[in-house]
Amino acid sequence: MDRLKGKVALITGGESGIGMATARRFTAEGALVHLVGLDGERLRRAVAELGPEQAGCSVADVTDEAAVRAAVRAALDQFGTLDVVFSNAGVSGPIAPITEYPTEAFRRVLDVHVLGAFLVLKHTLPVLADGGSVIINSSVVGLTSDPGIAGYATAKHAQVGLARTAAKEAAARSIRVNTIHPGPTDTPFQAAIETAATGLPPAAAASVFDQMIPLRRHASPEEIAASVLYLACDDSRFVTGSTLRVDGGMSI
Ligand SMILES: NC(=O)c1ccc[n+]([C@@H]2O[C@H](COP(=O)([O-])OP(=O)(O)OC[C@H]3O[C@@H](n4cnc5c(N)ncnc54)[C@H](O)[C@@H]3O)[C@@H](O)[C@H]2O)c1
Repeated sequence: MDRLKGKVALITGGESGIGMATARRFTAEGALVHLVGLDGERLRRAVAELGPEQAGCSVADVTDEAAVRAAVRAALDQFGTLDVVFSNAGVSGPIAPITEYPTEAFRRVLDVHVLGAFLVLKHTLPVLADGGSVIINSSVVGLTSDPGIAGYATAKHAQVGLARTAAKEAAARSIRVNTIHPGPTDTPFQAAIETAATGLPPAAAASVFDQMIPLRRHASPEEIAASVLYLACDDSRFVTGSTLRVDGGMSI
């Protein structure tokens, strides 16, 4: 239980879902975490749960460069160093065919995932300790796609190009950059996608999605967090630029 002992991690989208499950797992493994997100009240509750000695938070929109810079500074001010970055903040955007997809929504979905991950990399890489690890939370639809999700799938594919570039740029300092590609994971975020995509109530919508997954079920946020932990810690020390599928076989 000490695979991240003494390491400092910054997690965007840290106050809920996969981000919060990862924060719980990281702190259980000995890490100190700085959570970045939009919801100040939830961030403060998360810090209270994790313990103020082991956690801190910043309210920041990842598309706002000054706010990202300030959040990184706050993490350094609190804990003195930075070893791990989990770029996880995300929004699903609408479900509509390209011909009807609202242009502003397309722009916003790309901004949050692509510009957001870029700004997080831009302001963490210079201060990340040599040997550090960056994980970008893409998606099964960063490797595949389906009708109706032009914004989300395009953004999640783009994160792979960003991660590969960063992996080559940062390798000289033994910093690793990888993407993780979760399949449907039990969070309200995914439930909203499933009800919108199928027009069914949540349980029926989830079971439609289960049929698309060879392992026939959703992941739990804790299962995704376990794979993020693998990429964050020394067990994956020769893994960089990789695309780790954690999708029950959905993308094969
Ligand atoms: N749940 C799934 O099935 C699934 C599958 C694959 C990938 N993902 C990805 O996992 C990540 C987390 O999703 P989740 O399911 O935990 O959903 P969630 O809604 O619980 O978490 C999203 C988080 O991102 C934060 N966020 C959104 N926009 C932001 C912005 N502009 N600036 C800062 N923070 C912002 C929110 O505050 C929230 O904490 C997302 O990137 C999502 O695309 C989720």
